[in-house]
Formats: sequence, C-alpha cells, structure tokens
Amino acid sequence: MSTDNVWTHKGTFLLAAVGSAVGLGNLWRFPYLVGEHGGGAFIAVYLICILTIGTPILIAEILLGRSSRRSPIMGMRFLTRCHGTSRGWESIGWLSAFSAILVLSFYSVISGWALHYLAEMLTGTLRNSTSTSLQRDFAALLTSPALLTLYHTLFIAGCALIVARGIHRGLENALRLVMPLLLVILLLILFYANSVGDMSAAAQFMLSFNFDQLSLTGWLEALGQSFFTLSLGMGAIMAYGAYMSSESSLTVTALSIALIDTLIAILAGLAIFALVFGAGLPPDAGPGLMFISLPLAFSAMPYGALLGSLFFVLVLGAAASSAVSLIEPVAAWLVERFELARPLATGLVVTLAWLLGLATVFSFNLWKTDSLFHQWFGSSAFHVFEMTSHVTLPLCGLLTALFAGWALTPTESTREMHTHSHWLRLWRLLIRFVAPTGVAFVFLRALPWIEG
Ligand code: PFF
Ligand code: NA
Repeated sequence: MSTDNVWTHKGTFLLAAVGSAVGLGNLWRFPYLVGEHGGGAFIAVYLICILTIGTPILIAEILLGRSSRRSPIMGMRFLTRCHGTSRGWESIGWLSAFSAILVLSFYSVISGWALHYLAEMLTGTLRNSTSTSLQRDFAALLTSPALLTLYHTLFIAGCALIVARGIHRGLENALRLVMPLLLVILLLILFYANSVGDMSAAAQFMLSFNFDQLSLTGWLEALGQSFFTLSLGMGAIMAYGAYMSSESSLTVTALSIALIDTLIAILAGLAIFALVFGAGLPPDAGPGLMFISLPLAFSAMPYGALLGSLFFVLVLGAAASSAVSLIEPVAAWLVERFELARPLATGLVVTLAWLLGLATVFSFNLWKTDSLFHQWFGSSAFHVFEMTSHVTLPLCGLLTALFAGWALTPTESTREMHTHSHWLRLWRLLIRFVAPTGVAFVFLRALPWIEG
C-alpha cells in the first residue's frame, strides 16, 4: 500500500489515540464521578475495568483497523468477507458510525460552552463574580439558542477544517502542535493549583476509600467511564489504527494509551479539586463543577483570569482532538466508498452532526416539555441522545470483543499481535470471556430504574 495512508512516524498513532482519548471525559466527567462515588474506591474499580475490559477491547479495535487497513465500515466488510464469517459482523462498522455522529453532535455543543467561558475569561467579564452571578451566567448561556448555536458552529467548523486537510497536513500537524501544548498547560495549572489551592485536601479526597459509598450505580459508572474515556465503540480507534505502522506493538501501545489517559484524568482531578477546595467550594457540583465552581475559584485568585483562560484553552484543545476522531471514521468511509473528495466528505459528516446538534441546543431552551419531541420521545433530545449512546457504545464494544475473540482464528490474531505467547493467551482470555461479560453489565446503566 502507499505511504499516503500510514502515519508519518511510528509514534504518531499513539499521539492521535491519546488525542482522541483525552477529552471532556478526563477533565470534567472523571473528577465529578470520583466525587460522587466514594473517591479512591471508585478509582480502584475504575482501574480494574480499564485493565480487564477497556484495554483488551482497545487492542481489538486497533487490531481490526490495522489488519483491514480500511475505515470501520469498509474494514468490517473486508474482514467478514476474508474470513467467510457471518455478514452480521458488518453491523460493527455501521453501529460505530452511527454512534460517532450521535456523540459528535452533543460533544460539540458541550465543547462550545468552553468557548463561551474562554471568551469571558479573556475579556475579564468574570472578574468580581459571585456564586449567584455565575449561576445566572450559566443559565443565560443555556437559554440562548443563538449563543449555543454560534459556539456549536464555531467548534465543529474548526474540527472540520482539520479533518478536511487530510491525515498528514490536517490531523498530524494539529496534534503535534496541540498535544504538547496541552501537557504544558496542564502542568502549569497543576503547579498553580498547588500553590494557590488546597492540594492536600484534594489528595485526601481522591484517596479516601469509602467502599460503602460505592453503590451498584457507582460500579456501572466506573465501567461505562472506562469505556468512554478510551474512545471505544465509535470506530475512532479503529480508523486511526488503519494508519498505524505494522511494526509497532499492539500491547505496548494500548497499555500506553490507557496509562496516559488515566494519569491525565487523575492529574486533572487533583488540580480541579485543589482549586475548588481552596476556594471553600463543594466537590459534588456535578455538571456545574467545570462551568460554575471552577470559574468562581479562578475569579477569587491571583492571576485567576490568566490561568482560567489557559484552563479553557486546555479544555477546548482536548475536546477538539477528541471530536476530530469522531469525524474521521465516517469521512474516511465516504472517501473510500464513494470516492468523494476529502473536504466534501468531511463537510457532509459535519453538517449531519451539526443539524443533530441543534436538537441538543434546543433541548435547553426552545423545546420545553410540551414540545413535539417531548411528546414523541418522553424526554429532552439531549437526554434521548445520551441514553441512546449508553446502549449503542457498549453494544458495539460487545460485538467487537466477540468478533476479535471468537470469529478471528488464533493464527490471525497472533500475526497482528506478534507478541509473546503468554500475553496473547491472557488477551484472548480477557477478550473472549471477561470483556464481553463486563460490557454486558454496562447495559444496566441504560435502565431507568438503576438511576433512582
Ligand atoms: N475519550 C473522550 C473523552 O474521554 O472525553 C471522548 C470520546 C472521544 C469518546 C472520541 C469517543 C470518541 F470516539
Ligand atoms: Na478520556
């Protein structure tokens, strides 16, 4: 095959996969879940899930991408034909493309909020704010369809520009610039949080082993989080794996991704809680943690506007490097299947996600509970989309594990894995039995009665 479709360097896949993995899930969701579900106890369960379920499926997704050298939809078609297995496995490709568009649509709207806060930090609007004024500000943002649409559009258009330029000039260039910058900003904020905030309270909070606070919901959230945070079930990793060098080790690469993603989640948690505790704020503010409590903490601190601006640059960069990995698998399919020019393919994918995203925008304002959508689906669009992804992601992961573990022959996986036989045996054990069982449990999360 031509070098056109392989990452320039052996290490670029790792960079791209980390870019996809590190996002809102690390900076916002992980800290908040830790706070709600017993601190260190939640982290312990989460780590077990990452090692026994997340990482084996991560390996499987890279393996399927690299051995087919195609986008997820075409790749799954190719693999099922090659192995003469049931065409039903092709659903993995379609399901992941569906989930990618669905998740992209609301990921972009939420990332847009960070754009709003970056603008406010830069203009100094938040300088002498109080808890009430910040709450009012957040509510005002959500009730304005115009503002939300503006930010949603800007964010998704920016990501489209990167993907449209191709994997070398677009994705690689952007990632090489953004990822090191993000690391520097994160370390800077950690340093700042350590000197201005209350780091020992943060550490104590994250290391407290309150196993009695870890309910069944906590276990399921840990499982679901380990899945989402590694970007599984949406074809992102499979699409990037198609461009991976055949020489790199699957196991070492997958373990590195999982390790870096977890480390960044923990560092972000420490920084955020140190700032929040330092300002005397509660740790369990939920969705408002990043958009209300944190700006409040920054507004009361020396150089807060500057560090706050940097923080939201961090959030935006992390979110954008995740969002591009949702556009890529579907855009690559349009290019392969219909020979569309890349910019056109990217434009189509993004337009579809943008339109769907409007439903999420309106679910915060125009579409009140008496709207047609509510009457049809019994809930807001944002909620329906989220719950749908709670079903389609694990379903896709389950099928991926079953395909890699049961439909592929050991010889095929050995060829791709080129690893010591005991690692291979361990991986096969995990991917055939442990991961499918674990993922099957995540479905319970979508059941309404679990939430009560
Ligand atoms: N892994 C990202 C996060 O933790 O924020 C979210 C994500 C990005 C999921 C891309 C899936 C994906 F394809
Ligand atoms: Na993540």
